[in-house]
Amino acid sequence: MRVIRPSPSARHDFVPGTAPSGPATRVPGPRQRIGACRRAAGIPVRPARCRPYTFDRYGDAVLVASVLSLKGGVGKTTVTLGLVSAAIHRGMSTVLVDLDPQTNSTLTVDVPPGGTAAGGPGVAGVLDDPRRGVVADALRPSPWSDLLRVLPGSEDTERHNHPDPGAKKLARLQTALEKLDPAPELVLIDCPPSLGQLTRSSLWAADRAVLVTEPSLYAVTGVQRALEAVQQERTSRGHLQPLGVVVNRVRPRVSEHEFRLAELRDLFGPLILSPTLPDRTAIQQAEGAGTPIHKWPSAGAKEVAGMFDQLLDRLLRSGRTGAARSGSGRGGSGRGGSGRGSR
Ligand SMILES: Nc1ncnc2c1ncn2[C@@H]1O[C@H](COP(=O)(O)OP(=O)(O)OP(=O)(O)O)[C@@H](O)[C@H]1O
Ligand SMILES: [Mg+2]
Repeated sequence: MRVIRPSPSARHDFVPGTAPSGPATRVPGPRQRIGACRRAAGIPVRPARCRPYTFDRYGDAVLVASVLSLKGGVGKTTVTLGLVSAAIHRGMSTVLVDLDPQTNSTLTVDVPPGGTAAGGPGVAGVLDDPRRGVVADALRPSPWSDLLRVLPGSEDTERHNHPDPGAKKLARLQTALEKLDPAPELVLIDCPPSLGQLTRSSLWAADRAVLVTEPSLYAVTGVQRALEAVQQERTSRGHLQPLGVVVNRVRPRVSEHEFRLAELRDLFGPLILSPTLPDRTAIQQAEGAGTPIHKWPSAGAKEVAGMFDQLLDRLLRSGRTGAARSGSGRGGSGRGGSGRGSR
């Protein structure tokens, strides 16, 4: 394994041998070429609404993504909410699961915490008893959109964070998500910054793991450990795949950030997702106001919203590719592109 070194402040002698010098260039496939021709001819191109239509582990086509890092404060909640915002903005039925006992995402989407009269049983109640009735009772609408339902977090969720849980406990979240009625198109799970039962149960339930980091030394080592954890979980959960690493709060022209970004690309190659997210006040403003980034009226918010659109595209595309594999690999119904996408 590569050793991650502190960056020399005065001399940056780290030469990332395989780091690409610019954004990765890809040979466009037939669809992209057709899209480019249509754009050039002024013909409207169908927006990439991208239904994740081939995951049928939940009896319907649901794509489940877990957003995690083993380091606190790097932007898990921000990335989860940015993806939620992008999904509802393009008309996707979405469920947000707040697994973090800090309940930051529950607060931001303006839903009362679980374990209260207004908040219902919350995610902790669902993990106690993942029956259909409890799940239905726990789901809360959000003022963000009619398309968004939330399994709210609560401080109480912490009691489900055993350091060494058995398979039965780890399976409970997946069991609960199978009971979502009606099934959404997308489930996004905001994880706490640890690798206890909560994060592991999200990996157990997820098709894709989205890792988040900042371009700093400690965050890079956190990603390495998180990726190892995903790989470990993958040995028993074959459907789980790491989507990649979102690098957040990047400040161009800050030499430490440039150094760490090069290091990340050198270490993790194509797993570093594009675009990276810049440090923008608009993100904090939108979160502070409890507003989706797509609705925050500023140039910075518009820029970041576009980036979340691209990251969501990437997630949904991976769903389609993975599905082709899963159709034969999971021994499931082999429905291919059926399910919700065909409705
Ligand atoms: N790209 C960004 N630009 C500006 N501020 C950001 C950005 N990303 C995150 N922040 C801010 O950084 C703080 C921490 O972000 P966030 O809560 O998303 O991290 P987290 O990983 O979920 O933290 P925790 O581990 O505590 O759950 C928040 O105040 C958030 O608004
Ligand atoms: Mg958080």
